[in-house]
Amino acid sequence: MILSIESSCDDSSIAITEIESKKVIFHKKISQEAEHSFYGGVVPELASRLHAVALPQILQETKPYFKHLKAIAVTNQPGLGVTLLEGIAMAKTLSVFLDIPLIPVHHLKGHIYSLFIEKEPVLPLLVLLISGGHTQIIRVERFEHMEILATSMDDSVGESFDKCAKMMGLGYPGGPLIEALAKQGDENRFELPVPLRNSALIAFSLSGLKNAVRLQVAALGGVEGMSEQDCADLAACFQKTVKLHLLQKSKKIFATEPIKDVAIVGGASANLYLRNAYENLCHTFGKTLHVAPLEYCSDNAAMIGRYAIEAYKNQLFVDPNTLDIVSTKKQHSQMLL
Ligand code: KG4
Ligand code: ZN
Repeated sequence: MILSIESSCDDSSIAITEIESKKVIFHKKISQEAEHSFYGGVVPELASRLHAVALPQILQETKPYFKHLKAIAVTNQPGLGVTLLEGIAMAKTLSVFLDIPLIPVHHLKGHIYSLFIEKEPVLPLLVLLISGGHTQIIRVERFEHMEILATSMDDSVGESFDKCAKMMGLGYPGGPLIEALAKQGDENRFELPVPLRNSALIAFSLSGLKNAVRLQVAALGGVEGMSEQDCADLAACFQKTVKLHLLQKSKKIFATEPIKDVAIVGGASANLYLRNAYENLCHTFGKTLHVAPLEYCSDNAAMIGRYAIEAYKNQLFVDPNTLDIVSTKKQHSQMLL
């Protein structure tokens, strides 16, 4: 079995996965949404202190499995430095104490492998990754052979939901709040600009749309001046515009990529409105859409464990003395690989 740890942002999570059967034997996650909601976003220092309490609490429950462990896996990039370090410190200690190998896991590769939890990989695959930190389309040929085909030039999809929710006074995380509110809204009431609509660039951009939402909130008299219906209509229009942007750029890639299997992963892939739209697009192009179960869309240690099974088989181990977080600068230049 492999014990995996995830602490790249505001979820403390540990999983135990059986290597041969790929079965998730244990999985627990403690989220910090309530604590960060007041601030409208994640406060790194607070997040790291909450991990320091939650991770040992979860670890206690995994003690019966210690004798079966063959490796420890941990997210080491990308993410918030101070929260990654909480998971890394625990992973190093376990690796040294139990004298078993340590596997560093790239968080985004974990999101991709969330598709294969308790399953065999479906490869090659085109993946739309929409999370709180990233928006990318990635071609995955096989294990460790991945290429980014499109990426966001500024904000990510999840982040834009969070920021728009904050501007509308809704709380954090904004994704589920906006999705729920949009169901009562008129998605045609406000005309918001579809990002990069007239650009040949195969890339994403969400910051202009965010600004358009800010201007619309102001035009409606600010949060205090907005009725519940105004909020629902704006949420629906924003969500529709994100959808149009994702579809427009994906179409360009689908038109030239012969790969038949497509997937959406990451926290924002839990959005059923976006999922349905993507499913229809795949259908039009004769492609098959794969998604992870809803419980494994947002950050979790089971996806880290699933990737770690492949890494274990390929002996991608690291010395506990040298494992560190990857600096933010390098994270951005490398993004995925
Ligand atoms: O993958 P994730 O858990 O963390 C990162 O790796 O960043 O993604 C979290 C993001 C948040 O920005 C959250 O608002 C967004 O996913 N999210 C959603 C939905 N559920 C979560 N965005 C849109 N619609 C949703 N239903
Ligand atoms: Zn994530």
